[in-house]
Formats: sequence, structure tokens, C-alpha cells
Amino acid sequence: PRAGFAKTSEEHVKPLRSLLSSPTSLLSTLDGSASSDDLATYNNDWMNKYYGQSPLVVKPKSTDEVSKVLKYCYEHDLAVVPQGGNTGLVGGSNPVYDELILSTSNLNNIRSFDPISGVLVADAGVILENADHYLADKGFIFPLDLGAKGSCQIGGNVATNAGGLRLLRYGSLHGSVLGLEVVLPDGTIWDGLSTLRKDNTGTIGVITAVSILCPRRPSAMNVAVFSLSSYEAVQKVYAEAKSRLGEILSAFEFFDRQSYALVTHHQKELGSERKAFETEGDFYCLIETAGSNGEHDEAKLSDLVEHVMSEEMVLDGVLAQDQTQFASLWSMRELLPEACGKAGSVYKYDLSVPVPKMYSLVERIRERLRAGGVLEGDGGNGPIRAVAGYGHMGDGNLHINIVAEKYSEQLEKIIEPYIYEIVAENNGSISAEHGLGVMKAPYIGYSKSKTSIEMMRKMKQLFDPKGLLNPYKYIL
Ligand code: FAD
Ligand code: MLT
Ligand code: ZN
Repeated sequence: PRAGFAKTSEEHVKPLRSLLSSPTSLLSTLDGSASSDDLATYNNDWMNKYYGQSPLVVKPKSTDEVSKVLKYCYEHDLAVVPQGGNTGLVGGSNPVYDELILSTSNLNNIRSFDPISGVLVADAGVILENADHYLADKGFIFPLDLGAKGSCQIGGNVATNAGGLRLLRYGSLHGSVLGLEVVLPDGTIWDGLSTLRKDNTGTIGVITAVSILCPRRPSAMNVAVFSLSSYEAVQKVYAEAKSRLGEILSAFEFFDRQSYALVTHHQKELGSERKAFETEGDFYCLIETAGSNGEHDEAKLSDLVEHVMSEEMVLDGVLAQDQTQFASLWSMRELLPEACGKAGSVYKYDLSVPVPKMYSLVERIRERLRAGGVLEGDGGNGPIRAVAGYGHMGDGNLHINIVAEKYSEQLEKIIEPYIYEIVAENNGSISAEHGLGVMKAPYIGYSKSKTSIEMMRKMKQLFDPKGLLNPYKYIL
């Protein structure tokens, strides 16, 4: 139920607007400056699974404006949800009831870049892809890449500690964050931009700027995709890739036949159908290399390709010959979340499990759904259309996407908490990279001990004593 915060109502519109330098930085149905359709993109999440009814979006243009808005909300007991690109997948970025939406989209300046150290200081609302393009011109790369790069923002990335497609190479994003500028719930601005590694948890403050250590952009990058007959074969190729590619291995992703079917169907609808393999398989893996010597890297990758083909570890393989093919091979993997979304309503799980056990979880979920009478064979027209397994194999991170005809309580009960139980059985994490949000808040006990949860609760209380910032999420 809604907590006892003040109602986000008309009396707050004028005073809030007066804190902002531009009248267009406040959108509200309460004074007619926006329609509920205008606000729908802020109220709904990327999957159309979670939605709130906030009548008010504020888009401050400076840290000072964020501070004034938060101070006002603090004094008037208004709950606030910070929102970046709204690409989060666990219902963390949109309101549950009428919380004021504080969007960082207008905080979008690069503040500085030092080409010697590679340190980028930028506003939280800079879109990830824009940050990366800016860095590319200077020979550097943002140490994170993910399918949502065209809309997610670097503040949101840091708040969720997004993992993405090259964690294998650049490590956890938090490891590259050197500092933050944060506005605390009472409006206090904390300037931690110049300090070394800070902790950063979205629910205790609004990140307004980040300082990130960016590596040199690799001058040579290559990608190969293989079709394989079994999950065991994927693991064998993974081991070969690690040993034969060594330091130039920058990504190792896998996906199953069901994922491949969804993505090729989606590509067809986008008009970019292309038969990639002569021999298709039950599994696929994508290997990327990134290094500084093209010839040397190519020789290593060709050697790997030759080896896995001659040893019959793979059924078929494609090696990108140019930039267009590089992007097109990656799109098979990058388009997966979108492909699942286009196919139906998606129950998305984001799990850490030991690599050898990974795929057995997908199979167990399929069995469970079949036993529950909602999945026939591989899917099709029943309540469950497909169960897709894919993920960041190199990070031990499995994604299970259960594509349903529509969201229903009955389906959710078949899947949850069963899926979390089998993760706990394998000592895994129920939230490898997407966070807990609304979706997993009730299930945090499957991955965190009572002591850890208590510590998180105390930390939250210390920074946000009124619990105004992003309520109903993460810790209940
Ligand atoms: P939002 O979705 O707007 O917010 C996410 C959370 O952070 C919310 O709780 C919000 O309140 C909080 N938040 C946002 N900005 C701030 C701020 N400035 N200060 C404090 N809190 C803030 N995730 C991965 O980890 N790896 C992936 O590979 C990956 N791929 C994705 C692919 C697609 C197609 C999509 C749609 C999502 C993917 N995600 C992935 C999910 C991922 O969490 C987000 O894409 C991204 O990190 C969130 O950034 P955002 O700006 O959209 O944040
Ligand atoms: C991915 O790896 O593609 C992202 O985490 C998004 C998703 O799981 O669908
Ligand atoms: Zn992922």
C-alpha cells in the first residue's frame, strides 16, 4: 500500500516551477502543462510491466536545481523517484504510486576530459552512447557497453552498477568510478568528484555527475559467432578462447536456439534478415577480441577458429570481415532483449550461477512450466511463447527470459519463488546485474543474509531518514 507521504498535488506545482530556470523543465497534468500521454513514457517502464501514476515530472538543468527540488520535497514530505534513461528492467526507475519523477535528462554536459589520465567528468544525464562517441574521437572508450546504450544514461548506469557486454574486459563499472557528485535527499550537495573510489547506491542520493576512468580504445577489434550442438560444447569453446586468446578476449556471450529464433524473427521484421549459418545449432556463442595489434589479434582468433572447427567443437562459425559485419554479428546478441519484448510480455531473470550449472536452470524452468501446463514443447501459441536462455558467460551471468502471451498472477506463481529457490540451491545471486527494484524486493532474502539486509536498511535510514527517495524498491 501507499506509504504516508504527502500527495503530489497542484499546490506543489507553482513553488516547484519557481525553483527551475526554464518553465519547460516541469511537466504536469496538474496544471495542464502536460497530458497523461506525455507523462506515460516516464510512468511506464521499458517492458510495460511496471507503471505508476505520477502527475509530475521535474527535469532540472543543474545540480543546484536538483538540490532545490529535493530540499522542497524533503520539507513537504514528497516521495521522489530518480529517473535516468528509464531502461531499467526491474521496475526501479518509475513510480509505484504518485511519486514525483526527477529526470536527469537535462543534466547532459560533459564537464571535462583529461587525455593523459583518461578521466572523464560528466553530468549524470549524458547518454552512454554519446559519452562513448565523445571518447572515441579522442581514442578512448567508455568502460561499459550494453544494448540500451542509445537511451540509458551514465548516472543510471552507475546507480545500477550495470554490467553489460564487456565486463569481462573492463571489470565492474564501480571499479572505474573515481568519484561522484550526489545530492542527498534533504538537498545537501555532496561533492565527491575529486576523490577516489566511492560507494554509489542509487537509493541514498541522486547522482548528478560522475568521474570515470576510461581506458584507451582498442585499435583492433574482431568478432566471431559459432553455432554449437550442446551447452558442454559452449563451455569447451569458452575454455579454449580463454587459453588461446588470453589478454585480447574482451567478451564471451552465449545464447540458445530459442533466443536465436526470436532474434532472427525480429531481424526479419526490421528488414535485416540474413542467414548467418549453414548449420544452425542448439547453442550459439559470440567471441570478441580487442587489442592493439590487428595482425596479431587476427592470427590468434583465426587459430582459435581453426582449432574449434577442426576438433569439431562447433558446428559452424562466422568471422566478421569488416565493420558492417562486426555490427551485424553483435546485433544477434544485442537485439535479444528487444526481440523478447516484441514477442510478448517478458518475465526477465538475471542470475549469477556457476558456469557449469547455468543451463540446467533454464531446463528446470522449462520443465516447471510444462508441468504447470503453460508451456508445450518449445513454446508457440500457449500462455508461454518461449523460454530464452542467454547471457554473459564470461561473467557467470545467466539471463532467462520467459516470453508470455500476457502477464498474469497465475504464471508468476508458477515461476516465482521457484526460480529464486533453484538459484539459492546453487549458491547464486538472484540479481547479477539488473538490481532488485520492485520486482525482487520481496525476494532479497534469497541472495543476502539477514545481517547484510539490516546493514543496507541502516545505511538507507542514515542518508534518507524519511524514506522519501525511491520508496517501495529494493528494501521493503
Ligand atoms: P533508469 O532505468 O532510469 O534507472 C535505473 C535505476 O537507477 C532506478 O532505480 C533509478 O531510480 C536509479 N537512477 C537512475 N539515475 C539515477 C541517478 N542519477 N541517481 C540516482 N539514482 C538513479 N543492465 C546491465 O547491467 N547489463 C546489460 O547488459 C543490460 N542491457 C540492457 C539492454 C537493454 C535493451 C535494456 C533495455 C536494459 C539493459 N540493462 C542492462 C538494464 C540497465 O540497468 C540499464 O540499461 C541502465 O544501466 C540503466 O540506466 P538508465 O539511465 O536507463 O537508468
Ligand atoms: C542483456 O544482457 O542483454 C541485458 O542484461 C538485458 C537483458 O537481460 O535482457
Ligand atoms: Zn545482461
